[in-house]
Amino acid sequence: MSYETILVEQKGAVTLITLNRPQALNALNAQVLADMIDAFGKFEADASQLCAVVTGSGDKAFAAGADIKEMADKSGAEFYAQDFFSGWTNQLVKVVRKPWIAAVNGFALGGGCEVAMMADFIIASETAKFGQPEVKLGVAPGMGGSQRLTRAVGKAKAMDMCLTGRMMDAAEAERSGLVSRVVPADKLLEEAMKAAETIAAMPPLAAMMNKELVDMAFETTLDTGLVMERRMFQVLTATEDKAEGMKAFVEKRPGVWKGR
Ligand code: HXC
Repeated sequence: MSYETILVEQKGAVTLITLNRPQALNALNAQVLADMIDAFGKFEADASQLCAVVTGSGDKAFAAGADIKEMADKSGAEFYAQDFFSGWTNQLVKVVRKPWIAAVNGFALGGGCEVAMMADFIIASETAKFGQPEVKLGVAPGMGGSQRLTRAVGKAKAMDMCLTGRMMDAAEAERSGLVSRVVPADKLLEEAMKAAETIAAMPPLAAMMNKELVDMAFETTLDTGLVMERRMFQVLTATEDKAEGMKAFVEKRPGVWKGR
């Protein structure tokens, strides 16, 4: 699998995707979006792949945002006609039911922070820096920053970051609930891959349904969410992997999953 702006490797059951425009701090242009949609489509369709990790090439950045040079001369009419960057949500996030992790190594700014927040969770290196500095460019977040950041860290910090454009370091991001873990920079990929391998070793349908349920908590009322949770639990009890999982526990051995 060869792309212009990303590297894609299959490592066992884990797909590792590396944003690969280090000369532009992995800024996200239209080609990155096209490559990511294709790579995620293949990841989703390949039954051997059960979890993905997205990271940035180089030490400096996960992604320093949407490509400002690409946006600078585009007219408002073009942004609207193209529904600029809607593909990140509509053709990527909404399409991918398998779990994926963002491994953030350095700057995750603007669209970079937004792509990290699209992942199911973020593992950050100690050097990671998160921000929504769009206000300084005369715009606002356009790929979920105002919505996902607010849900992750609450109004006070989201307002602070969106209005001042300041960056949040890894320690603050962990304290605020934006990232699940912070690890030393030289261990980032190893730790993210280990987490992905752990997920990939789970019964796949259960992993997907767990993802769907946690996501649902942001979309529905508590009552409806609790009903959906019970229904999904009950659906999972009908799988062969449930029978195997409980039998394996009783027999004190690892389960062997069929994904059905
Ligand atoms: C295009 C970028 C870029 C970006 C960095 N570069 N960020 N190119 N788009 N978002 C390029 C620089 O032009 C430069 O290339 C090279 O990467 C290295 O960057 P420097 O600025 O020289 O590095 P440094 O001084 O270390 O500063 C790092 C930085 C700074 C603090 C991350 O680059 C920065 O502030 N970048 C912009 C961050 C930002 O505003 N992001 C939000 C974008 S708007 P050359 O060739 O000049 O050497 C957005 C909206 C999303 O994301 C919504 C869309 C729908």
